[in-house]
Amino acid sequence: YIQLCIRKVGRMTRFIHRMKEGEVVGIRGPYGNGFPMEMMEGSNLILVAGGLGMAPLRSVLWYAIDSGKYEHVWLLYGTKAYEDILFRDEIIHLLKHGSSMNCSVKLAYEVESPSCIYLEGGFSDRVCRGVVTDLFRGEEFDVNNTYALICGPPIMYKFVIKELLDRKLSPGRIYMTLERRMRCGVGKCGHCIVGTSTSIKYVCKDGPVFTYWDALSTRGLI
Ligand SMILES: Cc1cc2nc3c(=O)[nH]c(=O)nc-3n(C[C@H](O)[C@H](O)[C@H](O)COP(=O)(O)OP(=O)(O)OC[C@H]3O[C@@H](n4cnc5c(N)ncnc54)[C@H](O)[C@@H]3O)c2cc1C
Ligand code: FES
Repeated sequence: YIQLCIRKVGRMTRFIHRMKEGEVVGIRGPYGNGFPMEMMEGSNLILVAGGLGMAPLRSVLWYAIDSGKYEHVWLLYGTKAYEDILFRDEIIHLLKHGSSMNCSVKLAYEVESPSCIYLEGGFSDRVCRGVVTDLFRGEEFDVNNTYALICGPPIMYKFVIKELLDRKLSPGRIYMTLERRMRCGVGKCGHCIVGTSTSIKYVCKDGPVFTYWDALSTRGLI
């Protein structure tokens, strides 16, 4: 089976949220590329998620844990509030028990609530009030054997990338999954084109996963 995680933000998603069990939907895809999981085998992975950006990183997280093909996995996850933590039960389970699975989970929240304070009380070294970049504090990783995978709101990329570059992670080791308002999804309509006439990219077809190197050479990618 497949699982979908859909935020109710517009006409289409409101409609989907109103659907009842047993109704039929048509699905096209999957389109575009994904994270190069095979190429990264044997390395550390730092997954940096902001808000709903956890949705595409969740399958990476569980694949990395279940396959055992990666050295260590960090999940640094920032949300506005406790209630916004996606897949909350499993994330909190990993926060508590991840070390036995070679996985370290850290959470940042912006709005204080009793649940956050309770969580922070038990895991003061891994839960904090702040933004996702605060979670890098105290973490050491081998830049020659680590890849970072980022997904979140556009503003987050700039700050997370700065943090990673300051730690000397090379741009080719930073993978971002980018979002554009797409139409056809298959490279026909030109709606998602970025770059200049000499170097263009279709986010739907060439992406949505790009390295920071791609971003440096393609105007408008981030
Ligand atoms: C390829 C792709 C696929 C996606 N798939 C889905 C999907 O299947 N379903 C879905 O619902 N969504 C999906 N999304 C995610 C979604 O579109 C965005 O991540 C979402 O818009 C984030 O908004 P938010 O309001 O939840 O984030 P916000 O709540 O605004 O921000 C979340 C967190 O980001 C961090 N942050 C924000 N600004 C800064 C800053 N200046 N410095 C440091 N940290 C900061 C903070 O920790 C903050 O709490 C996808 C995104 C992409 C790129
Ligand atoms: S969405 Fe149509 S070309 Fe990318």
